[in-house]
Amino acid sequence: MATITYEHATVQYPGAERPSVNALDLDIADGEFLVLVGPSGCGKSTSLRALAGLEAVTDGSIRIGDRDVTHLPPKERDIAMVFQNYALYPHMSVADNMGFALKISGMKKEEIRKRVEEAARILDLEQYLERKPKALSGGQRQRVAMGRAIVRNPQAFLMDEPLSNLDAKLRVQTRTEIAALQRRLGVTTVYVTHDQVEAMTMGDRVCVLKDGYLQQVDTPRNLYDRPDNVFVAGFIGSPAMNLVDVDLDQDGAHLGGRVLALPRATMSALSGEGAKTATVGFRPEAVTVVSEGEGFPFEVVVVEELGSDAYAYGTLHTSRGSEGDKLMTIRVDAKRPPMKGETIHLRVLPDEVHVFSTETGRRVSGDVASVSGSGATGVGQG
Ligand SMILES: Nc1ncnc2c1ncn2[C@@H]1O[C@H](COP(=O)(O)OP(=O)(O)O)[C@@H](O)[C@H]1O
Ligand SMILES: [Mg+2]
Repeated sequence: MATITYEHATVQYPGAERPSVNALDLDIADGEFLVLVGPSGCGKSTSLRALAGLEAVTDGSIRIGDRDVTHLPPKERDIAMVFQNYALYPHMSVADNMGFALKISGMKKEEIRKRVEEAARILDLEQYLERKPKALSGGQRQRVAMGRAIVRNPQAFLMDEPLSNLDAKLRVQTRTEIAALQRRLGVTTVYVTHDQVEAMTMGDRVCVLKDGYLQQVDTPRNLYDRPDNVFVAGFIGSPAMNLVDVDLDQDGAHLGGRVLALPRATMSALSGEGAKTATVGFRPEAVTVVSEGEGFPFEVVVVEELGSDAYAYGTLHTSRGSEGDKLMTIRVDAKRPPMKGETIHLRVLPDEVHVFSTETGRRVSGDVASVSGSGATGVGQG
């Protein structure tokens, strides 16, 4: 087991106009489960492959433990990778697939068998050891791919979208199994996914990437509660955070024909920047339904009932006229959801308002927790 450190690591493919991974700084703790997440093409696989030694680092460095591995070939890095397509050898049995890398490395037969049997026991594959991959289900193949990584007893596991070939239900079950297995083995793991729910449920910490740049790395809780910028705010959370550009005056932000009071510290930071607008965000659950006149009007367009939860999609009339009408999502009482076409009135919970600079996208508001102590009163005044 080991720590992993990216130091200003940059990967630019030959002939590419710009780096696919740009000056990445990232410290991963010994035994940590770190998830790299972001939209397609943001550089997740490239970051992982650079760590594995499959792509050349063009600037900066990567360390595993106290070894600088930047220029070491993959086989000298003591890591095991699990790929999306599992890359199993079709003509080999499960046991041979799992033991193949050990055999190549010259390990004794008895030791290989011992390790394969132990991994098979951990992964519940004992009765399939003599089968060929094609006689296995997708979930079993996925476990063989995991087994092949486990038998090597590496310093780190690297996994690139290992669940994306499974159907939705199996994916949810398997992600829990992988997370539990990783905790049991305690092996430092870097896990790539484009699915933010997968990232949030599996990672000790989650690193959000966009266009090759690190946006934020933090615990799932902190990413959710305190996104550093508009991109992270919109990417993390499902349904997504409501984000709306609003005009400012000295009292706060114009929203839904009313003024949303903002914390004094936020207002002074905004006016310090000379900002006339801000981007305000609130999550679907950060509202309460109030009586008419107490909140902003919200016209319900669609209601989505999920059983335990219900969401209403609708429009909020902003100060920018009909152009500013934004489709928003709010969580509503699943037992008594509003009706399509109905207009309800909402109050945004003042502690849960996020404010970002419209210009830079960066977070402006102070600590979410301190907002309530600084004079915010939420939508409904004014
Ligand atoms: N072998 C390659 N040669 C040139 N460009 C590549 C190569 N692999 C990936 N890229 C580019 O690098 C960027 C990041 O790709 P990738 O790391 O695969 O993203 P992700 O895994 O987040 O979807 C993309 O713009 C992609 O087109
Ligand atoms: Mg990828």
